[in-house]
Amino acid sequence: MEYFKLNNGEKIPALSFGVYEIKQRKTKKAVLEALKVGYRSIDNAQVYYNEKEVGDAIKESEISRDEIFLTSKNWVSNAGYDKTIKAFNKSLENLQTDYLDLFLIHEPFGDYYGSYRALQDLQKEGKVLSIGVSNFNSARLIDLVMNNDIVPQVNQVETTPYFQQHEANEYMDELGVCHQAWGPFSEGINNLFKNPILVEIAEKYSKSTPQIILRWLIDRDIPGICRSVKKKRMLENIDIFDFELSNKEIKKIKEIDTGKSPFMDFDDPDTAKELNEEIV
Ligand SMILES: NC(=O)c1ccc[n+]([C@@H]2O[C@H](COP(=O)([O-])OP(=O)(O)OC[C@H]3O[C@@H](n4cnc5c(N)ncnc54)[C@H](OP(=O)(O)O)[C@@H]3O)[C@@H](O)[C@H]2O)c1
Repeated sequence: MEYFKLNNGEKIPALSFGVYEIKQRKTKKAVLEALKVGYRSIDNAQVYYNEKEVGDAIKESEISRDEIFLTSKNWVSNAGYDKTIKAFNKSLENLQTDYLDLFLIHEPFGDYYGSYRALQDLQKEGKVLSIGVSNFNSARLIDLVMNNDIVPQVNQVETTPYFQQHEANEYMDELGVCHQAWGPFSEGINNLFKNPILVEIAEKYSKSTPQIILRWLIDRDIPGICRSVKKKRMLENIDIFDFELSNKEIKKIKEIDTGKSPFMDFDDPDTAKELNEEIV
């Protein structure tokens, strides 16, 4: 496994296993399998409703807690100082651990300034090693940085060959915030896995297009997160540490950037409404 250094000296694995949308009854098996094939970083969130099952899997794996990088995220309905502390402690209880490696504000909605003050205090107390945000555009990120003591270690945002986030990446670099990628496969929509540019590069390295996508992130210095409930795909997705893409190939992949998410628009009032309505 490769790692990237965060602005507080901690390190984050180049590839994490995500558990979004994995049903509770399937989560323990999936996480146990992921740990078995070599993943050492699990990306979770309160709103995935499977923290307890992730905790069960880690316990059953008998892998030492300090070998696993564990992330969770505070949901919108838990925004605000007091509610964030309470929700964080509930996440620890569910995950059956006494600290997190990374705790993020999941969405830039609700009283996330109160949440961020809570995250800073939790970090000072040693209950979480690194803190950050998710789905923050550059304007919101800069505002947060300019109005707080601690620069977030991570901003986790959607990043796929269709939505490459080059401008946001430059701002994050400038601020010293690690850009972490979610949803790299865009759930395979719009024939992403059959895109001719990706297929040509995949053939050159005798790799699959999902492997090219995950390697493309790492070669842009972006740690990625991927999800699969299939062991064969878990193995395939982690088998990306024996080759590197050239700058020319990264430039070629830039041609398929559409500059917008194939899924959601955080500036859409309906998105703000929908995310505020989900109560965890
Ligand atoms: N911060 C946020 O707001 C946010 C939002 C979304 C996601 N995330 C995090 O990012 C993680 C990854 O994103 P994601 O779960 O949305 O999607 P993803 O990893 O981009 O894609 C998952 C989909 O791709 C399929 N897949 C995986 N590997 C494949 C392969 N090698 N070949 C073909 N198909 C493959 C999976 O199907 P099978 O399971 O059937 O293999 C699944 O349908 C999440 O689990 C979560 O931890 C964060």
